[in-house]
Amino acid sequence: MRKVLLPMGAIIIVCNLMMMVSCSKSNETDLAKGTDTTGTGGTTCDTVNMKYAANVQPIISNYCYGCHGNGSAAGGISLDSYAKLKTQADNGNLLGTITHASGFAAMPLGGSKLSDCNINIIRDWINRGTQNN
Ligand code: HEC
Repeated sequence: MRKVLLPMGAIIIVCNLMMMVSCSKSNETDLAKGTDTTGTGGTTCDTVNMKYAANVQPIISNYCYGCHGNGSAAGGISLDSYAKLKTQADNGNLLGTITHASGFAAMPLGGSKLSDCNINIIRDWINRGTQNN
């Protein structure tokens, strides 16, 4: 009995790990809405007509709310609503921090820079007038 149970346990653990990996992968795709429009592996990034609720907010929620949302306001800044994010977009801090431009604190603080695709999604939303859409 023991000899059968041990490999079974190992298989279950391996399966769980695989599920976790595939879960985080699909999350990544969901966040970068519009990526992989060709279906060839995500080298293209659709950043046309990006909207706050559908495209921008999910990125900010995932990468920034840990310090700037859900009750946290690192540096006195919260980004967890359209109005708060718009303030930082209008004064240039949003794009400056995520592109790691000189003179701005690089965000996410201590984390990796956002992907070019995610940066371009946010940039497109700003270029279209940071609408509440
Ligand atoms: C690990 C915590 C942490 C994360 C994650 C984080 N920030 Fe910050 N952020 C800070 C701290 C702390 C400050 C204030 C200290 C400073 O300016 O260095 C700050 C400051 C800022 C400022 C003001 C910068 C300035 O120059 O006045 C902006 C804008 C900002 N963050 C945007 C973002 C965005 C956008 C994200 C997500 C892409 C993000 N942050 C993720 C901790 C974080």
